[in-house]
Amino acid sequence: MIILAIETSCDETSIAVLQAEKDGGFSILSNIVSSQVAIHAPYGGVVPMLAKREHQRNLLPVLKQALEESRLLKVQSSNFKVKNGKAKFKILEELLNREETLFKKLTPFLKKYEKPDIDLIAVTNGPGLEPALWVGVNFAKALALSWDLPVMPINHVEAHITANWLEPIGANSKSPARGEARQKRQITKPKQIEFPILSLIVSGGHTQLVLMRDFGQYKILGETRDDAAGEAFDKLAKMLNLGYPGGPIVAKLAQSIDVRHQQIKFPRPMLNSKDYDFSFSGLKTAALYFIKTLSPAQLKKLTPAICAEFQQAAIDVLVSKTIRAAKEYNAKTVLLSGGVASNDLLRKTLSLATEHLSLNFSVPPKNFCTDNAAMIALTTYLKTQNLKPKTYNWQKIQVNANSRIS
Ligand code: KG4
Ligand code: ZN
Repeated sequence: MIILAIETSCDETSIAVLQAEKDGGFSILSNIVSSQVAIHAPYGGVVPMLAKREHQRNLLPVLKQALEESRLLKVQSSNFKVKNGKAKFKILEELLNREETLFKKLTPFLKKYEKPDIDLIAVTNGPGLEPALWVGVNFAKALALSWDLPVMPINHVEAHITANWLEPIGANSKSPARGEARQKRQITKPKQIEFPILSLIVSGGHTQLVLMRDFGQYKILGETRDDAAGEAFDKLAKMLNLGYPGGPIVAKLAQSIDVRHQQIKFPRPMLNSKDYDFSFSGLKTAALYFIKTLSPAQLKKLTPAICAEFQQAAIDVLVSKTIRAAKEYNAKTVLLSGGVASNDLLRKTLSLATEHLSLNFSVPPKNFCTDNAAMIALTTYLKTQNLKPKTYNWQKIQVNANSRIS
């Protein structure tokens, strides 16, 4: 079985191809990620309608590259004719009537290339930015119609968690080099992870603590009441004029500072609350008030220290609540995932805290923490292995911008 996965929930256009192997292993034949960071950077955050426009532009080139790298792109023979071609074209036109740019490029593509050797299409249908999600979902439907394939909708947060079944830290984490796929396939087996699992998901849109007693079973124990962790990093970077996305820039500036030896102190919101919820807006406001007291020269000098204290405050709360929940629910394993999981200090702090309690700990390789379609493909693969889902009828698939895992 070969799965083609599409991810457009935020500002990355990504398509991956996963091949299931006979012995329960799989190989990722390609995982192409086209980032829109440069487009959104001047606004200090993702602009939904710009994201939609960029996905419309990027999806086809990304698909072509993903198929090429997977060696699945073949030019059509000259006497080729589509069965029910006219009727299909009409439905395709209706399907993509909001994605005009995409429609114009897709029809010549479909005429030029053969149906690739794919069995199932997977697509993120939520949560995320609604206009961005629809482009991916409509594109998946258009391909399904053209190639007579089923489509499976996938939850983005579930996929972030599932990225943990990919490969351990330090193991070979790169998708195969160009042309290497399908010849020298890197076959891996899904990682063995012991349940119950306590999973911390920290991204630009989500901060959740989730209990998993088995694969595919989720209980949300707590979540952010306002800003997501990544959003808080992005807002701090905006206040400091550092650029977008803020997380990696803040983390880099913080590297040179030892927070124990400096005066700036920010609050740790909800650190001692009895529940497992989070709040990052108070931390952001504390930083803002402090910044306002500084002259431009002081601000320049103190920016790395502000970043370091902010990062430490966020990590203190995230790690403390995760560990408390892991203890209360007798978790055997703690998983970390989402874009903020690429933060080195968070990875290290949570790893040490779990080691101290003799808990297993897993975090995906960094390139599988931020948005990518390989995690969508892997989720689909594991669902078809473990949960035997029915073949999905693409006509019924809807976008749910606020969908929750359950
Ligand atoms: O998972 P993701 O790629 O997209 C969403 O689903 O939201 O996460 C993106 C978020 C951004 O807010 C970005 O600033 C944050 O992840 N991020 C980081 C780091 N790298 C990315 N935050 C803190 N430290 C990092 N090293
Ligand atoms: Zn994400």
